[in-house]
Amino acid sequence: MAKFVPVDPFDIVIFGGTGDLSRRKLLPALWHRWLDGQIPENSTIVGTARSEMDSAAYRKVAREACKAASGDAWDEKAWAKFEKLVHYVTIDATDPKADWGALRKHLKLEAKRPLVFYLATSPHLYVEICRAIGGAGLAAEPARVVLEKPIGTDLDSARAINEGVGEVFAERQVFRIDHYLGKETVQNLMVLRFANILFEPLWSHNYIDHVQITVAENLGLEGRADYYDRSGALRDMVQNHMLQLLCLTAMEPPNNLDDDDIRTEKIKVLNALSLIEAKDVRKQTVRGQYTAGLFDGKPAKGYLEELSAANGSKTETFVAVKAEVKNWRWAGVPFYLRTGKRMSGRHSDIVIQFKSAPHNIFGQSAETVNRLVIRLQPDEAVRLFVQIKEPGPGGLRVKSLPLNLSYAESFLIRYPDAYERLLMDIVRGNLSLFMRREEVEAAWRWVDGLIEAWDASGYTPEPYPAGTDGPLSSAVMMDRDGRSWWGEG
Ligand code: BG6
Repeated sequence: MAKFVPVDPFDIVIFGGTGDLSRRKLLPALWHRWLDGQIPENSTIVGTARSEMDSAAYRKVAREACKAASGDAWDEKAWAKFEKLVHYVTIDATDPKADWGALRKHLKLEAKRPLVFYLATSPHLYVEICRAIGGAGLAAEPARVVLEKPIGTDLDSARAINEGVGEVFAERQVFRIDHYLGKETVQNLMVLRFANILFEPLWSHNYIDHVQITVAENLGLEGRADYYDRSGALRDMVQNHMLQLLCLTAMEPPNNLDDDDIRTEKIKVLNALSLIEAKDVRKQTVRGQYTAGLFDGKPAKGYLEELSAANGSKTETFVAVKAEVKNWRWAGVPFYLRTGKRMSGRHSDIVIQFKSAPHNIFGQSAETVNRLVIRLQPDEAVRLFVQIKEPGPGGLRVKSLPLNLSYAESFLIRYPDAYERLLMDIVRGNLSLFMRREEVEAAWRWVDGLIEAWDASGYTPEPYPAGTDGPLSSAVMMDRDGRSWWGEG
């Protein structure tokens, strides 16, 4: 029996087909699904962009991209077959006079054959491209459209995009992607919560003291200065990836895995997030921007130097937030979120810290707190910290040690990239790991409130040296609550 169930033959058209996302993620993801036998031979992959290029040249671009993503495991024979699926068509989708005939020739346009339009372009083009697809008569089901983040820069612009796209495509045809939802460990969070009876009885304010979600990156701007400086860490990471992680941690068990059941539960969490007011902004949030520092023992530039911003920039590269989910399950349980660029290392963790045992019979210094630590990346793992007795005669020394489930040790297979799973879900028409319109808008509503609060209180980013864990205020915010970030203090 095949390990991976093949999808039905499909056509995918990638707008921005020569761009960074296509080369780094989309083409390699399709290639890997092909290698695993999941993509049927009579499928079609069409890259499109404004630049003049023929299919032969595009195949070279695709080959380089897929080779770079394959490490040593390169299969030339498999490539020779795969590249037959790959084509390129020059289209300026913003030109009303553009000729879509060449693209149309590559598409089968059969009643049940999935036709995917992947918009790997700047979001300000989404509506125009969708209108052009509609104008070319290609938007009817089974066509579907994929929108990359960021969808807008605030609630108003997100609404405008959603409305514009909605004039052409019905909501069930729209796949708003957040690649964090395609990560194996993020999906495992759902399995852990909802396929085990162990955690659910403890999963509330009754037994959980607080939750921490950290996505720390060691990279800096990586050539994305123009986008990043207009965005900042709150819009780039918190509005989407971090809030999605929060939703999966906090949501009620969905009735089943249907798209709308999961999405409905996530929206309830977003709507329960309390808005942070200007008077609380310095207690409940930290904004940082990295300055020059040391990284891996080598001098690293500060944000402003990387940006070459002579006049300075008030964009944050670090955010920490103490969020509250105001509902029956979570009342009084803080969710501490933190993310930043140029931090001391790259790691993403969700830490569920349980309350102390009610009565400590082992002496004051013995820890009686359990923690469930979900390491999303790298070294994917789930660790449940429990107290055990340190071996030895005389006295009783208690130590906190993990029951340790390491993915690498448990599963000896290659880890698929998040996009591989998500692309196959799009072809299958499974919306559960994609965001519904209201979800994106609810997330923006909360983020807009925070930005307003920052502006109203005049809170500009605090400096932190590159290669550290953010401004000191981030540790102080935890300390004020008698807590500390996992792994520190
Ligand atoms: C992207 C952000 O959405 O996610 C980047 O725009 C960030 O700034 C990236 O670096 C992080 O993704 P990952 O999968 O490397 O954790």
